[in-house]
Amino acid sequence: MINKQNTTYIMSNLKGRNLISITDFSKEEYIQVLDIAEGFEKNPKQKILSDKVVATLFFEPSTRTRLSFESAANQLGARIIGFSDPGGTSVQKGESLHDTIVMVSSYSDLIVMRNPKEGSSRYASEVASVPVINAGDGANQHPTQCMLDLYSIRKTQGTLDNLQIAMVGDLKYGRTVHSLVQAMCNFNATFHLVSPQELKLPSSVKMSIKDAGLRYYQYTDLRDIIPTADIIYMTRVQRERFPDPMEYERVKDSCILTADMLKGCKENMRILHPLPRVNEITTDVDSTPYAYYFQQAQNGVYVRQALMAAILGVR
Ligand code: CP
Repeated sequence: MINKQNTTYIMSNLKGRNLISITDFSKEEYIQVLDIAEGFEKNPKQKILSDKVVATLFFEPSTRTRLSFESAANQLGARIIGFSDPGGTSVQKGESLHDTIVMVSSYSDLIVMRNPKEGSSRYASEVASVPVINAGDGANQHPTQCMLDLYSIRKTQGTLDNLQIAMVGDLKYGRTVHSLVQAMCNFNATFHLVSPQELKLPSSVKMSIKDAGLRYYQYTDLRDIIPTADIIYMTRVQRERFPDPMEYERVKDSCILTADMLKGCKENMRILHPLPRVNEITTDVDSTPYAYYFQQAQNGVYVRQALMAAILGVR
């Protein structure tokens, strides 16, 4: 636990910052955000953002990210503006992302944006006059999901250090996977990467593991990692990311976790999933003590409260 003096110092570092990639924050800053989130979990309704306006700009569908940001902002007293579908905005008339962001900067204190184009959130942060939080940019990064994943891992394992982490499913296009692997490189994790050949983790993300001096192992059969893993991080094979629909059909059912496969797993093992799920975790897993994905999504409210409070400079 960092003492109060350090907390004040680190939080002042987060004031006004953008969060575009998980690597924008340091290990110490992750931990600080998680500690603040613990406080919000105990006391989520604090009207500390009552003079703030948060803009949520979702150019791509979302349930959890948008609604948990909006719930988090509401519980802290902030006002929310924005859209969940660009179809109702002047983007339809040809307005550029540049002009949209410049305008929304003048209407809000903080912009939360999801966009299917990789790099769009970084670009938005370069033209905005208020901080920008990336709520997912294509197959690139999803740093706030990563922060809630870290929160969930620490909460269920009691530590972030020295864990055996299995990442399963769409490791190629999975932005939550890319962010989480990079974050866990700070905590001496060992990575077990389970995917069909077509959906292996990109070389650039594997390079992060190598650069951190850590190990990864690759598998195609999910059963191989069940006895070893502390965390099994399941992901959906994302139809919307595939240029070729035939390829999606070929790989969509490659990694499916069922309750009967969990025999022999570690007692402390927990299953995470950023959600939405399709069929990659069968519903009989939900009632096992290992399922944690719905609590994980709930943790997103506290973590997003912590991020907004820190970036807006009130924690
Ligand atoms: N985990 C996640 O990003 O979910 P949504 O797409 O529903 O926001």
